[in-house]
Formats: sequence, structure tokens, C-alpha cells
Amino acid sequence: MGDAGRNRVQVLLLDKSTLALRQLQRLLSEFRRCDVLTFDSVRTALQSISRQKPDLIITEWELSDLTAAELLQALHARRDWENIPVILCTSNRSQKLRIQAQKLGVLDVLHKPIEPKILKLHLKQLFPRASSLEKRPDDEKKESIRSRINRIHTLAPLPALAKSIIDISDDPGSSVRNLADVVKRDQSLTAKILKIVNSAYYGFHREIGNVDHAIVVLGFDEIRNITLAACIIRSFQSSKNHLFSRNKFWLHSLGAAYVARALCNYKPEIFPKDAFVMGLLHDFGKVVLHQHFTDIFYKALQMAVEREQPLYQVSEELMEIDHAEIGGMVAESWNLPVPLVKAIRYHHKPAGAYGHEEEIHLTHLANYFCHRFEIGDSGNPVLEEPHVGSLKAFGFEEQDLGDVWTNLDIDVQSLSEFI
Ligand SMILES: [Fe+2]
Ligand SMILES: [Fe+2]
Repeated sequence: MGDAGRNRVQVLLLDKSTLALRQLQRLLSEFRRCDVLTFDSVRTALQSISRQKPDLIITEWELSDLTAAELLQALHARRDWENIPVILCTSNRSQKLRIQAQKLGVLDVLHKPIEPKILKLHLKQLFPRASSLEKRPDDEKKESIRSRINRIHTLAPLPALAKSIIDISDDPGSSVRNLADVVKRDQSLTAKILKIVNSAYYGFHREIGNVDHAIVVLGFDEIRNITLAACIIRSFQSSKNHLFSRNKFWLHSLGAAYVARALCNYKPEIFPKDAFVMGLLHDFGKVVLHQHFTDIFYKALQMAVEREQPLYQVSEELMEIDHAEIGGMVAESWNLPVPLVKAIRYHHKPAGAYGHEEEIHLTHLANYFCHRFEIGDSGNPVLEEPHVGSLKAFGFEEQDLGDVWTNLDIDVQSLSEFI
């Protein structure tokens, strides 16, 4: 069964009545770990789910184009899709339809209006691992974190200098000189960049003494990346805790930036400068949590260690939101391009997104490599398995990932000199 073993359950809802869809959606919203997709027609549903197998389908019999029977026939034609549980929720009470539904392997036929208890029972039986599917009374308190996040006007302001750097690099009319001018206005940043450029990572034999020379030697894109990283890390530094060190966090993020950029060798259609930003900012939501919700963030970190569970899953349970989603919200507020926003938002759930999957897979794998080869520390105590879809997208076999890592040629030791 598709995602039932994972934390979230993907439910496909089909009904030609918007009202009925809304009612069912409301009912399912009582289950914390359901992601619901709604459709009124079979054709659009089939198009939308072409790449992601749902865990459960709840459908009316008559839809706006075809019937549920035709939907099921189409699903049964796909390999491994014939076992998706289907619940028919219908106003049609005829015995004939019930028999036909049973023949098609429908799990249950429920009559409208749906009795919530019966639907809940099915969900619990189908997805026993998601035992905390149903909301608990203290969830109201947890939900307030999501609404508090929505109320915070500026979760994290994009540093003005970082904005200038992004604008310059996105503007085809801009030149090396524009970048150098912006950098040189900031003395501490200039010093930092020169320190990085002269670090063992780049391994130059002669010292590079100024920004203009650095740009000539390393090129526009590389200096742009270094500057952006130095500027963002500097703006969101500080604060130490035994569970969350910003230094180690930024080392993990910087590692992901360089790994993501190196992975572009396998995906030439993705710009390396975009990949770098995706890696650098993929966990940025943790900075927001650390800054605005310190206590509950520490609690999540602690729980993740105690339970040996991925941090994002614990965060979802405690706060109804995880750092990936918050990071996506910040990236949106910074007007970053959609593929970057999606890569950040879905880096733990590559199967959950439609569109820009390549960027999401790339970010997911960059994060995986940084965890597996212990670059910095993101606060997540668990090495999660790489997503099968991501491996497939890159043509990687799991057993070959060690060789892939060697080929990426990331100088882990020298990266720490950047921080
Ligand atoms: Fe993450
Ligand atoms: Fe990460």
C-alpha cells in the first residue's frame, strides 16, 4: 500500500457535488495525518495521480464524466494499483450497485450522509501505524502554532545584501563589477569572503587579496554563492544549545548547498546556482522555529532524540507543522522562484508534490548525503532512507550511493572553514 507505512496518508476524494466534497473534507480534517486531494471527475483525478499512488480512495458512484467503475478499471490496469482500498460514499441505495461495487473489490459502500464513526473505523483499520491519526484534545493548542506562524508578519526578513546579490545574479544585464561593488561596501563580508576564497577548500597556492581578483579566479557564480551563503549565515547566526548549534546547523546547510550543486552534474537542466540556494535554505524553517518558538522547538529536538524519530515527524505531531513547510513559507515571502520554494517545502516528502519534482529530488538527496556522511548537524537525529522516487529520478541504486558520494568530490574537512 502506497504511503500507509509512512507518516501521512494520501486520500483521494471524488464527488461531483462540491458540497459533498466539502463535507467529506471536513470529516477527514479530523484526522491529523491525512493529505486530501479532491476531484469531481475521473479524468482529472487520473491525470493528477499519475505518478503518486494514493493510500485510499473515497468516491461517489456517478462522477461528472465517468463512473467509479470506470475509475477502478483504470486503476486496476496499473501494476500494483489494484490493491488501493476504495470506499464508495453514495446516495444511491440500490442493491444492484452494492453488488457491482463488491465485484469491483470496493471495501465498503457507505450511504450519505456519512456516519463519521464508520469512516473513522475504516481509517484506523486500514492505517494502524498511524494510531495518532485522530486529533487529541490538546491539538487545539498545537494548532495555534500554525496560526501564530501565519500571523507573524515577517518570519525572517531576507537580509538586504542577500536580496541585492540575488537580484544582481538574476539580472542578465548585470556584470561582475556590480557584484564586486555590492560586496566591497561591506567590509566584514569582504573579509569573510577572502577568508573563504583562501581556505583549503579552494586550495590556491597564492593568496587572493581582493574581491576583484577573487571574482576573476573563481568566477561570478561561485563568488555569488559564497557571498550569499556568508551573508545569510551571518544574519542568522548566534545562539547555542546542546541540542541545536547554529554553527553545526549552517555547516549541514552549506554542505547540502555544495552537494546539491554537485548533483547538477546528473541533472543539467537545473541551474547550479539554484541548486546551491535550495541546499543552503532547505532547513531554514528550523531557524524560524528556533527564533520564534524556542521552547517547543527544543522539546521537538529532545523528543526526536529520545524516540529516534525524524525531527520533521515529531514537529508535525507537536506543532502540526514542520520546518520544511515553514521554510517554504519563508522562501515564498522572499519571492524565490517556485521550484526553489517547492524544493524546500517538500524535501522530506518528495512524493507529496506535483511539479518541479527534479528540484525536490535533488534537495532530498543532498540532505540525505549530508546526514549519511555527517556534515554538520541539522538537529535531526535519524538518518532517513533515501526516497525511492528520488533515487530513480537520478538513476541511482541504493547500494551505489557510496560511489556516487565519492564522485561528487565534496571536501568536507574544508567546508567548516566557511563558518
Ligand atoms: Fe529537513
Ligand atoms: Fe537537512
